[in-house]
Amino acid sequence: MTSRPSILVARAVFPEVIASLREHFEVETNGSDDTWTPAQFAERLQGKAGVLTSGAERIDTALLAACPSLRIVSNLAVGYNNFDVPAMTAAGVMGTNAPDVLTETTADFGMALLLATARRLTESEHFLRAGRWNKWGLDLFAGAEVNGSTLGILGMGRIGQAIAKRAAHGFDMPVIYHNRSRLDAATEAKLNARYVSKTELLQQADHLMLVLPYSAESHHAIGADEMAQMKPTATLINLARGGIVEENALVAALRERRIAAAGLDVFEGEPKINPDLLTVPNVVLTPHIASATLKTRRAMAQLAADNLIAYLTTGQALTPVNP
Ligand code: DGY
Repeated sequence: MTSRPSILVARAVFPEVIASLREHFEVETNGSDDTWTPAQFAERLQGKAGVLTSGAERIDTALLAACPSLRIVSNLAVGYNNFDVPAMTAAGVMGTNAPDVLTETTADFGMALLLATARRLTESEHFLRAGRWNKWGLDLFAGAEVNGSTLGILGMGRIGQAIAKRAAHGFDMPVIYHNRSRLDAATEAKLNARYVSKTELLQQADHLMLVLPYSAESHHAIGADEMAQMKPTATLINLARGGIVEENALVAALRERRIAAAGLDVFEGEPKINPDLLTVPNVVLTPHIASATLKTRRAMAQLAADNLIAYLTTGQALTPVNP
């Protein structure tokens, strides 16, 4: 009898997903949401052919050299900035992500965060809960208009386009966007979207939504200089990765009302939060939950598992990221 491959699941994952993996593999699981240190992670990976990661585990040259049995790393996330893809390719290790199944859910959350930020939802709720509401006021928590205002999108992949669809068709918003590549004319027309330079995007957007991948190139893509170009009435929404925004510059811009407000689902040092952000009232903060509905998280986990099963049983991954 040939022995079955062993794999590692680095996070707590739904039992039915683990059960599907156990049909093919010997499975060791973390069983909790605590991230292992790189040394603990490398130790657990000894003898494993595959691993299901959450996006927090760094896959780099040192780890690959320490884990020669590894053949595939399957990220339970669409983003894979935790992968050193060239190093993985050089080591013959397949990398996969979990795209598509989260697109619509994440776009819903983008609109939710935009609305909450522009319409000051959490700020006004805190005020009410604190017992401070004693009279109706004409400008009490007056926020920024969403319908009909211009939405700027930085990064126009699947999630950016799903947000543009909601904005254009649900909220009558003209959409401007900047991206590495331009959409075709028919898609632009369908999304009421106009391609602009990054400078025009910063200057013209009433609300700026960040949905671009994180890389060395997009690190601190929105810093003090970029915020200085934005309208003082603008809001900034980050659904992508914390490192795209220079957080200290954002705190200063929010405090000095150089931009009106921000909505952040992701943070540079998450789950640790820059303490200064917690002192600013005009920011809505959520714990990286843009794709978090049970249906979507189950689908993401199953896709991550199916990538392991497909690659280790047939040699073909479903959603590879290696070129
Ligand atoms: C993703 O899928 O990349 C989300 O940000 C969850 O990590």
